[in-house]
Amino acid sequence: MLAAVAALSGAPAAMAPASGQGGAEPVPLFGIKLPPGYRDWRLISVAHEEGDLNDLRAILGNDVAIKAYREGTLPFPDGAIIARLAWRYVPSEENNKVFGRDQSFVAGAPTNVQFMVKDARKFAATGGWGFAQFNDGKPVDDAMLGACFSCHVPVEARDFVFTRYAP
Ligand code: HEC
Repeated sequence: MLAAVAALSGAPAAMAPASGQGGAEPVPLFGIKLPPGYRDWRLISVAHEEGDLNDLRAILGNDVAIKAYREGTLPFPDGAIIARLAWRYVPSEENNKVFGRDQSFVAGAPTNVQFMVKDARKFAATGGWGFAQFNDGKPVDDAMLGACFSCHVPVEARDFVFTRYAP
């Protein structure tokens, strides 16, 4: 179906990249592509959102971001990238059987990935951060990206980053 649509429109068939591989298409507004190798970055912390999101998330950093976190460097230097990966929050029947009661939740299907990319000059209008989100490897539209920065303003004192390093 997708291939047929692509063929009709004359566009090359888009391949959803496997998790952690770089993608070809950049997001609008900020022009950020899915960074290659992000799945291998180191862990900053984890979080769980309830409500509509109901997900489990891991926050990872590239080498520049991890170094800044560990040394307490603020603002983050250019080149720092923070990734937020999320998965559905699902009960594990398999684990619950072993525990003998319902207590286990694990990562289900992946939902989306978000990135904050530091470039103080290029992204001066948004606190020095470029924002990106990919659903199934595909960039989201500019309406979604336009909402990112304003929601991160409350943590301006920590360079617009909510997540604290979990030792
Ligand atoms: C409704 C407010 C809100 C919006 C809109 C929002 N964020 Fe966030 N973001 C948060 C909060 C709160 C956290 C920390 C809690 C968490 O991890 O869920 C966070 C965490 C993050 C993180 C991990 C680093 C950090 O700051 O903790 C990244 C990366 C991120 N957001 C990117 C984005 C991108 C990209 C967009 C737009 C597509 C976006 N955010 C839109 C509130 C928001």
